[in-house]
Amino acid sequence: MCGITGYIGYRDAYPIIINGLQRLEYRGYDSAGLVLYDGNQINLAKTKGKVSDLIERVTNKEGHLGIGHTRWATHGVPNDINSHPHTSQSGNLVIVHNGIIENYDTIKKELINRGYIFHSDTDTEVLINLIEEVQKNNNVKLGKAVQIALNEVVGAYAIAVFDRRNPDEIVVARLGSPIAIGVGKDKKEFFIASDASPFIEYTKDAIYLDDEEMAIIRVGKDVKIRKIKDDSLVDADIQELQMNLEQIEKGGYEHFMLKEIYEQPRAIKDTYRGRLLRDEGIIKMAGVEDNMKKFLNADRIIIVACGTSWHAGLVAEYIFEEFSRIPVEVEYASEFRYRNPIITEKDVVIAISQSGETADTLAAIKLAKEKGAFVFGVCNVVGSSIARESHAGAYTHAGPEIGVASTKAFTTQITVLSLIALRLARAKGTMSSSDYRLHLQELELIPGKVEQALKVNDHVKEIAKEYLLSTNCLYLGRGYNFPVALEGALKLKEISYIHAEGYPAAEMKHGPIALIDDRMPVIVIAINRGHYEKTVSNIQEIKSRSGKIIAVVTEGDTTVKGIADHIIEIPDTEEAFSPLLTTIPLQLLSYHIAVMRNCNVDQPRNLAKSVTVE
Ligand code: M6R
Repeated sequence: MCGITGYIGYRDAYPIIINGLQRLEYRGYDSAGLVLYDGNQINLAKTKGKVSDLIERVTNKEGHLGIGHTRWATHGVPNDINSHPHTSQSGNLVIVHNGIIENYDTIKKELINRGYIFHSDTDTEVLINLIEEVQKNNNVKLGKAVQIALNEVVGAYAIAVFDRRNPDEIVVARLGSPIAIGVGKDKKEFFIASDASPFIEYTKDAIYLDDEEMAIIRVGKDVKIRKIKDDSLVDADIQELQMNLEQIEKGGYEHFMLKEIYEQPRAIKDTYRGRLLRDEGIIKMAGVEDNMKKFLNADRIIIVACGTSWHAGLVAEYIFEEFSRIPVEVEYASEFRYRNPIITEKDVVIAISQSGETADTLAAIKLAKEKGAFVFGVCNVVGSSIARESHAGAYTHAGPEIGVASTKAFTTQITVLSLIALRLARAKGTMSSSDYRLHLQELELIPGKVEQALKVNDHVKEIAKEYLLSTNCLYLGRGYNFPVALEGALKLKEISYIHAEGYPAAEMKHGPIALIDDRMPVIVIAINRGHYEKTVSNIQEIKSRSGKIIAVVTEGDTTVKGIADHIIEIPDTEEAFSPLLTTIPLQLLSYHIAVMRNCNVDQPRNLAKSVTVE
């Protein structure tokens, strides 16, 4: 949570920082701020609200050095004072921070005893004053002071700090929250950001700090990276960015979410490209091949994830168990890490995360590694913490997902997990050759079928008009599509603020049926595969209690058409891949309802794209 950006070099820092903050707003948007050094003094502007509010506040835009911040509040309500940047008591040091300093209260009391006065409720103001105190007491430069101070704090952070008395350097550090450094041509300029999106038009060369590392960035010099704990030097690994500007712009769509929904055919194809070799009848994934023994000897697979990624994990549970006959447990990462889970060296833990930065998922895999399990990461963001912390992994190639509501991440995660399950089925001989080939063929057809499923958009928009004033919604699905029901409900509640619940269709009669009346829309996934007749019976039960039924059916369906209030047709596919299609109209339905309710679709209230706090 929270986005950090910074610049030092020869260009005007202001537009780089403002554009960067706008690109990072998906990480938090409670408040925003920046500070610029104009050669004489620092000029700071910050405000509750969005980056667009910040733009109104900035009076002096001069300077070739600056840092900025967009906030998702942890300590202290979102208001102007709690917004970042924070300055030290002397006014010399300035900081932006992403993360939480857990022992801030103890440090604050000590600093108050030493005469420090605090203006905000934040842990960040405590950290910058601790750095100042260390600097004073030890008569050291900023880099050393930051290092000593960070060794005293407990918690997670990504920080960028500078000292106005020494305005040719910025110090950055990370533990648990990402920091990327963009290296300009001939090191004449440097960019700092929580991810590389703020600087991709300026440089393709980036350094990603690892946890427990800090860097001193000076124009014209090599970036000096050190381990925070023992001061040892680390080689700067400059990587070439694969991202391009087009991927992080709306490209004519009204919202990122809609763009990302429409990108799914391409994203799914990119995810299996080079891995699914249908003509040769093989699936090639280095991370799986190199660790085949681990997978084949596994007693079970434990999937850890949060939110939408957890829903993809639930779909994968059905797929793995059916295809490769390996027992699977799917765990909320946050629950898994805080109980005392039984994990052995014969467990394979798959961590699913779009951002690769979700704190609970990261902590869960650290725990699993400590207990000897083999950890396999399924992440979208290249070089992210979970990707790096895993023993091996496979990326989804969804491209940057900016809308807070996850869409293409979900379908590409299912794609990767299906490939793995098919590969293991082949290796274990748990699927016949003909079935295996059929599934390879079918998976290759999915992008085209998603394309076709997207054609329901206008029809779904019409349906949305009827339900935009609903206060509750029920989503039902069976088997592979039970997780899709959960995902549909999550999408609706997070962007439209309508209360929604997902349920296995058969569970309805064990409670939720009591909620059904003529004001309750029930979205039922009733495709012609799996337990179709049973789902039809569930639809009848809803109908006889006057519930309003929106049914997602296989094209050509006639039975449900006669009962439901609305039907949305999608192409037929193998049941295991049906979530890749059934989820499309549910994404569109939430999107249109949210737009019609005037909700901020890409930046729903209280949420942030990557949840880097526990
Ligand atoms: O980056 P991750 O996949 O680890 O994120 C997990 C959840 O925070 C995320 O899926 C969240 O639930 C989305 N807002 C759902 O749309």
